[in-house]
Amino acid sequence: MTILGLETSCDDTAAAVLTGDDVRSNVISSQHDIHAEFGGVVPELASRDHQRLIVPIVKQALADAECTADDLDAVAVTYGPGLPGSLMVGLTFAKAFARGRDLPLVGVNHLEGHLYSVDLSTPAPPRPFLCLIVSGGHTQLVRVDADFRHEILGQTRDDAAGEAFDKVAQLLDLGYPGGPAIDRLARNGDATFHDFPRTRLADNDFSFSGLKTSVLYYLRDLGEEKDAFLRDHRADLCASFQHAVVDVLVGAVRDAARDTGVKDVAVVGGVSANSALRSAVRAAGEANGFDVYMPEMAYCMDNAAMIARAGAMRLQAGHAAGPLLDIEPRLGLATATG
Ligand code: KG4
Ligand code: ZN
Repeated sequence: MTILGLETSCDDTAAAVLTGDDVRSNVISSQHDIHAEFGGVVPELASRDHQRLIVPIVKQALADAECTADDLDAVAVTYGPGLPGSLMVGLTFAKAFARGRDLPLVGVNHLEGHLYSVDLSTPAPPRPFLCLIVSGGHTQLVRVDADFRHEILGQTRDDAAGEAFDKVAQLLDLGYPGGPAIDRLARNGDATFHDFPRTRLADNDFSFSGLKTSVLYYLRDLGEEKDAFLRDHRADLCASFQHAVVDVLVGAVRDAARDTGVKDVAVVGGVSANSALRSAVRAAGEANGFDVYMPEMAYCMDNAAMIARAGAMRLQAGHAAGPLLDIEPRLGLATATG
């Protein structure tokens, strides 16, 4: 099956063409420059830019895949969770495109896209596997018993891990998105410079707002010294903050692997691009006897290849969308579906 995937849930306009497991194209236009001056995504600007870009991005995805719309068998589109205006652009385009060409349409839960993005890399994890989804909007630890049969073991009660990276980056004047900037600077910093709090809650739940507030107070207490201090120690603070996040995330997957006895662990979503997290989770796997699966960099952050992949799986399971498919901005990972 050759399927066109579309992703416009937040600030990336993305289209991809997949034939089976072969990613024939994966085009992403990020709006980071547009939102950088505001320190975060401005929904109205995001949807306008999706509207401007959706047609050229789809054309580019078809051209890169060296195919035409006639070669497509289906269309997959993210219908939630995400920003309403942004989701609406992708879904409206996908409906019109599928209808015009008489192709089946399938709605994809963005979180399932991330979850199964790990199948795009080889080897794919066997089922069951544990999956830590760490993105700008979500932090969830999930047990995947079979395709589309998920049990949420834990999740954040406040900020998502990526959100903490973005907010702390703002405090450190590093712009948006903050994760990649902190990751880069932290490589030259001392992770033991300051011991920021690590919060693990009962029921495998996470909380990152205390850590963020702790960075805020730390900087506030520097008073007038702050600017000079940051010139000398920005990288140390990045490394120390990142170390705290990584400790919490890796501790959670290590304990879940031990408690569930599931020995295959995946880490997906934008924060799975973090170099310190990637090496720490690999080291924990080696030390504790579980196998680690992570998507290639191109599939960590929002992309349409993962939407096409999850869409093809959904179609094969008989889940084509009807004409009434609508956006679901607050969609969660349903448990035990399929
Ligand atoms: O999955 P994603 O592209 O979008 C959402 O579904 O939210 O994740 C974006 C998040 C942002 O918060 C960004 O700062 C974070 O992923 N991120 C990183 C890195 N690259 C992206 N966080 C830490 N280290 C990175 N290298
Ligand atoms: Zn995402």
